[in-house]
Amino acid sequence: MSKIKTNYVCTDCGAEYSRWLGQCNECKAWNTISEFRQAKTPTRGGSFSGFAGMSNAKVQTLDAIDLTDLPRFSSGFNEFDRVLGGGIVPGSAILIGGEPGAGKSTLLLQTMCTLAANMPALYITGEESLQQVAMRAQRLGLATDKLKMLSETSVENICLIAEKEKPKIMVIDSIQVMHMADVQSAPGSVSQVRESAAYLTRFAKQHHVAMLLVGHVTKDGSLAGPKVLEHCIDCSIMLEGTSDSRFRTLRGNKNRFGAVNELGVFAMTGSGLKEVKNPSAIFLNRNEEATPGSIVMVLWEGTRPLLVEIQALVDHSALGNPRRVAVGAEQNRLSMLLAILNRHGGLQMNDQDVFVNVVGGVKVSETSIDLALIFALVSSFRDKSLPQDLVVFGEVGLSGEIRPVPSGQERINEAAKHGFKRAIVPFNNMPKEKISGMEVIGVKKLSEALEIL
Ligand code: TYD
Ligand code: MG
Repeated sequence: MSKIKTNYVCTDCGAEYSRWLGQCNECKAWNTISEFRQAKTPTRGGSFSGFAGMSNAKVQTLDAIDLTDLPRFSSGFNEFDRVLGGGIVPGSAILIGGEPGAGKSTLLLQTMCTLAANMPALYITGEESLQQVAMRAQRLGLATDKLKMLSETSVENICLIAEKEKPKIMVIDSIQVMHMADVQSAPGSVSQVRESAAYLTRFAKQHHVAMLLVGHVTKDGSLAGPKVLEHCIDCSIMLEGTSDSRFRTLRGNKNRFGAVNELGVFAMTGSGLKEVKNPSAIFLNRNEEATPGSIVMVLWEGTRPLLVEIQALVDHSALGNPRRVAVGAEQNRLSMLLAILNRHGGLQMNDQDVFVNVVGGVKVSETSIDLALIFALVSSFRDKSLPQDLVVFGEVGLSGEIRPVPSGQERINEAAKHGFKRAIVPFNNMPKEKISGMEVIGVKKLSEALEIL
């Protein structure tokens, strides 16, 4: 038997080393490096026959490549298609990540039952029994007569069966329970996950099957998982949502066939996942009474606006080192804004605990949150509530200037649609024409904004 090559791989960034290290040299994460045994190359030894054709590889110019196979097909969910960049591409490998219970199996079962009406579809379940899946499908009232099911965890067997069944779309639920005979570690380990995913991806490419792989992410994001897989798959999509919230968001992390940052929104109901067609105000559920520290802002998610409420609590600290906590926003942004407020706004919060929260479990990475955070902070600090009909957005620079953000006009329009009467926005985002029923104030400097406050 040939010698099996062993190396060490960081589960966070995928960097490879020839020996074990405590800290990854690439991403500086601790304790993320684990042993990885490579399988024998699949060109030899009992693999699917598609590999026999590998030697026929020929060089072509780009324009000679046949694109007729490429038209995408719809998943049956507009929100899902949107995140994929317009539908599923045949022969692509798509990873659906998410915490256990997020609804990955539910989403894919619904998708597959719809798709099976028009094309051969195969659902491989390694986690749930066939009965469990069937019961769920029946309870959700899905068409169950066309979808082919298989309960199997051996990747080689799956590929052999898929070769006979010739599906156009396949689901592997989940990649963590899959294993290959050639790899000598337990299912769920980096080696197994990576080799299994690579093998399945090659199968998808050669047989033009769209392959949907389910991957679990734990709370701290560590698993033999998505990060290690990211380079071998075409799209990586995360299904997120807290268990106490009805809403689930689908977000692309990587997409070889479309833009990322597009957001799909679903609601988990008693009868499965339902799309939210117009999600812009779903996270807005405010008190009747105005409260200090609360402000609404308009986010721009991919190609759509989203109204969210930002809350802040500034309270006298009993600690020598006051707390700075940001939920849904970036901690570093918060620290930066506090420094800007101190320097350019003359507001000292050195002796205050500061907490900020984006309501509804939304995660904001956009810079347009800056001005809204500042308003929420100052409002809480002074214990004065802001008007209920006010929206705010804008980036704040280090010298206290207010910078424009993309799609300013559309953001203001969306706020006006939801009944907001006033907007404070960067001066350069001022709309050219007046929006009826909306008073828009443009600000250039932090001091101007604070004056209005
Ligand atoms: P599931 O798809 O099994 O999650 P995953 O595969 O990502 O681990 O979803 C399980 C959760 O979804 C479970 O906590 C219950 C909830 N759920 C509903 O609320 N309604 C439904 O109709 C279904 C099928 C699940
Ligand atoms: Mg599942």
